[in-house]
Amino acid sequence: MNSLTLICFFYTIKKKAPVATEYPFRRKAERSAIINVTNTTKSYAYVLQQGPYLPAGYDRKLTAAITMPDNQPVLCTQISTNVCISAYKKEGVSLRYNHKFITMNRYDRRKFLRDTTMAGIGLSLLQPARLFGSVIKPQVRIGLIAVGLRGQTHLEEMLKRSDVDIIAMADPDKDMMAMAQKRIAKAGKKAAVEYTNGPHDYKNLLKRDDIDAVFIASPWEWHLPQGIDAMNAGKIVGMEVCGAQKLQDCWDVVNTYEKTKVPLMMLENVCYRRDIMAVHHMVKQGMFGEILHLQGGYQHDLRTVLFGNGKDKNNVDFGEKGFSESKWRTAHYLHNNGDNYPTHGLGPVATMIDLNRGNRITHLSSVSTKSRGLHRYIEKKGGADHPNAKVKFVQGDIVTTQIQCANGETIVLSLDTCSPRPYNLGFRVQGTNGLWQEYGSGASDTGRIYLEDVSPYDEWEGSKAYLDKYDHPLWQRYSKDAEGSGHGGMDFFVDNAFIECIKRNVAFPLDVYDLATWYAVTPLSEKSILEGGQVQAVPDFTKGAWKTRQPVFGVSNEF
Ligand SMILES: NC(=O)c1ccc[n+]([C@@H]2O[C@H](COP(=O)([O-])OP(=O)(O)OC[C@H]3O[C@@H](n4cnc5c(N)ncnc54)[C@H](O)[C@@H]3O)[C@@H](O)[C@H]2O)c1
Repeated sequence: MNSLTLICFFYTIKKKAPVATEYPFRRKAERSAIINVTNTTKSYAYVLQQGPYLPAGYDRKLTAAITMPDNQPVLCTQISTNVCISAYKKEGVSLRYNHKFITMNRYDRRKFLRDTTMAGIGLSLLQPARLFGSVIKPQVRIGLIAVGLRGQTHLEEMLKRSDVDIIAMADPDKDMMAMAQKRIAKAGKKAAVEYTNGPHDYKNLLKRDDIDAVFIASPWEWHLPQGIDAMNAGKIVGMEVCGAQKLQDCWDVVNTYEKTKVPLMMLENVCYRRDIMAVHHMVKQGMFGEILHLQGGYQHDLRTVLFGNGKDKNNVDFGEKGFSESKWRTAHYLHNNGDNYPTHGLGPVATMIDLNRGNRITHLSSVSTKSRGLHRYIEKKGGADHPNAKVKFVQGDIVTTQIQCANGETIVLSLDTCSPRPYNLGFRVQGTNGLWQEYGSGASDTGRIYLEDVSPYDEWEGSKAYLDKYDHPLWQRYSKDAEGSGHGGMDFFVDNAFIECIKRNVAFPLDVYDLATWYAVTPLSEKSILEGGQVQAVPDFTKGAWKTRQPVFGVSNEF
């Protein structure tokens, strides 16, 4: 939390007029009602949040966002126990409560209370304090299922934190386990208990009663079975990205969540990329107008990942002789043809148009090119006589998926992992006022923007000035903490959100319904391609709740 000075009002039932007293954040304020005032947008929206020092009997499920005309501190007080946040500094403060904007005049509390009392009936829809509630579990005990290269990235993030204990790790690969333990030792922390006895030993880790949550960063085919087992064992899940092996698996994970109520976070780190979050911020400010069309994808030459033994750069082995992902990922290219990695492209744009939260995907269809790239690579590196040159890959080199959304937007996803090309996820966000398109890997100056009546007519502008100006408050606040973290810092944010939500027992910004919807693209795209591009209905995993679920991702600078 930053060092904003908070001005808290003492309030007692007996006293009619509140007395203003200044408190720095976290200083004990026995009867102060509002503890936390944070700058959530560059245009000075604030979230008021109840902190740990509420007097007994106060409702903790309240918060409000205040838009201030300038960056002055907010005076705020909680004045009753029901729907009872009022905030005022001077004339003209506008206060957003349950999506309603109410302009506060200094003593116009009566109207505010009336309005918010009405809105309070629907409070559970927004559940604001459940978004940013106070810490109720200061220490989180973690297990890691799979500590390959990605699992070790999560491990590194966790080792930096003093509010996390690494209890145990499960991975059948003893070399990977040794690498992970070495990282723990280097951080000066206690060695984790190891589960290395085959691919099912993670189940013994799940039996432990000293673990709150697990990261799952295993090969794709293991994600959902392990996630479901973890939820059934009462362990909160942080799940890595990929696509489902079967559509039914998506239903199974949702149904397990609904049965157990054990939450799962979809660890889609690209949602937290700095340029993506700035564009998300611009979208939410209405800069692009009404959103019409979005694009994204996974356009990454993976040939050196899909082949190789980790030693010789010309090696084209995979499977048992492979290293890291070539051990298992390449096998998916042998038998399936679909968008096998949809979430990096879909997740970021999904949050911009509130999929599963007021919007949803209804249909998709996919087409694929022929398969050439992997075979060519084997021949080029290993020679035409290499045994793998005889292998037939079913996966087409480029898969294009078009998606229709309930609110009228379209999305195009592109999977392009087998051809020579520089890395670029191909994002485009287009609305009725203009668009952003990027061609780099996350830097603010590798995109272009055009905004009607702002940009010179019919000319692209560089994106840097815009993305710097609309830098998301989360990045403004935590960019220093994110320095050195994986993927340009975005891994800090995704893991930080996972841990902070667990500490507060609040909803994850990217949840099991997002995971099911995004993962479902894989089996549905495979089916569509098999059927010659036939349109597939995308299930509503929320069972209608998408109509009332509220956005969580990116709505504040908390996490
Ligand atoms: N979000 C990102 O930016 C990002 C980046 C890289 C990888 N990933 C994803 O992370 C996951 C792991 O990828 P990786 O690069 O670490 O691969 P990896 O091959 O380096 O690691 C996978 C590990 O899983 C272990 N494993 C296999 N079966 C297991 C089981 N039954 N139980 C426990 N462990 C098991 C393997 O021994 C290996 O150590 C994949 O889903 C991948 O798509 C995400």
